[in-house]
Amino acid sequence: MDILKIQGPVQLNGEITVSGSKNASLPIMAATLLAPGVSVIKNVPDLSDIRVLCELMISVGAKINKPAKGVYEIDATNIDNPFGDYEIVRKMRASICILGPLLARCGKVEVSMPGGCSIGDRPVDIHIRGLKELGAIIDIRSGNIAASAGDGLKGKDIFLGGPFGSTVLGTDNIMMAATLAKGTTVIESAACEPEVSDLANCLNAMGAKISGIGSPRLVIEGVKALRPVEYSVLPDRIEAGTFMIAAAITKGKLKIKNCQCDYLMAAIDALHNIGVKVEHCGDDIIVSSNGKFKPVFLTTQPYPGFPTDLQAQFMALLALADGNSVITEKIFPDRFMHVAELNRMAANLRKEGPSVIIAGVDKLMAAPVMASDLRASAALVLAAMAAEGETIINRVYHIDRGYEKIEEKLNACGANIVRCQV
Ligand code: EPU
Repeated sequence: MDILKIQGPVQLNGEITVSGSKNASLPIMAATLLAPGVSVIKNVPDLSDIRVLCELMISVGAKINKPAKGVYEIDATNIDNPFGDYEIVRKMRASICILGPLLARCGKVEVSMPGGCSIGDRPVDIHIRGLKELGAIIDIRSGNIAASAGDGLKGKDIFLGGPFGSTVLGTDNIMMAATLAKGTTVIESAACEPEVSDLANCLNAMGAKISGIGSPRLVIEGVKALRPVEYSVLPDRIEAGTFMIAAAITKGKLKIKNCQCDYLMAAIDALHNIGVKVEHCGDDIIVSSNGKFKPVFLTTQPYPGFPTDLQAQFMALLALADGNSVITEKIFPDRFMHVAELNRMAANLRKEGPSVIIAGVDKLMAAPVMASDLRASAALVLAAMAAEGETIINRVYHIDRGYEKIEEKLNACGANIVRCQV
């Protein structure tokens, strides 16, 4: 198992390039299952989650070739085993994104029900409800979701909201299934995240007829068939946001290249509010800081609000603010596994229900800590670069799920991170 040894404090300076988006790549690659033939998906990050999806897609019958860095040729000519096995699905919750495309393509599908994870229960009831609205017959048996399209999926007006707002992968699944349904589907309360829009744009490039992209009302006119596509995935806004916070927490200056600034407005605004300088120029964002942070009250929200996927990283930064801050988590109210670990590094955080009260401290101190989920691990890396001494982060496989070569990218800007096997 790998660990990271991180020596701090360091100051990051230089340029860092953002990779393709993990959360757009996963459903876009799954969408290629909708069309017989060879699709080419580009700008895909090299991550363990992508490898798990490839394993799953191969198990259902796809052939995958990687001719160049970030490029995946996916041959979906023979999709003859529409079955998502627990042994693969349990490795990655986002495996659920094959449900919609396989149901539409094969007329039936069985996918193991994803379990909860360290960020909460994570039910899939809205995915199931949406597919039922399209006419699917769904049975839960032996821990699997078994769905059949009966005499064909039919378009319908569907309200897809849930207790915590819209659902990203739920919207993806219903939208993908609806592309091949008979008639028109309207998804109300659709997720508006840029990754959902990227998938919709990719589906349209495959011949789908989706309008309202980027809005909470998606209109999908069913078509008879889709064709293979060549498509390049958008940059990862969460990786970009993590690097923005890295510049701030290390009192450094980073030019973060290949961002889509429009998609980062909530994070940019939050950094402005605490006194961090953020400039943007085309697709680059320059972040610099003198290490003085004003406290702030922050709430995570669906896009375009402040993303839950940057909550842990921002908490590491506010741990060093001059006063008391509060972060409230509105998407995953239990996503606070990093709180205890940051406290091991001399932060002063107290969880109160879905909020954390952050009493700013003058400095963080190195400690051995445990990564518990992807974004919590990123928060620990950020805290460790600012802390005094050598932090050891265990279970770094979590970070490899979502950050491509994180230590190489950060070390090139002045970090001191060594990966070791234990
Ligand atoms: N929810 C339900 N029922 C459902 C589906 C969701 O109640 O059927 C609830 C969830 O429990 C949560 C809220 O709705 O409270 C939103 O969850 P959502 O379905 O949007 O999450 P997701 O689609 O499973 C994606 C990202 C997550 C990101 C969330 C929120 C991918 C692969 N994953 O998950 O990314 O946090 O949207 O933006 O796109 C990450 O990258 O670290 C990560 C966890």
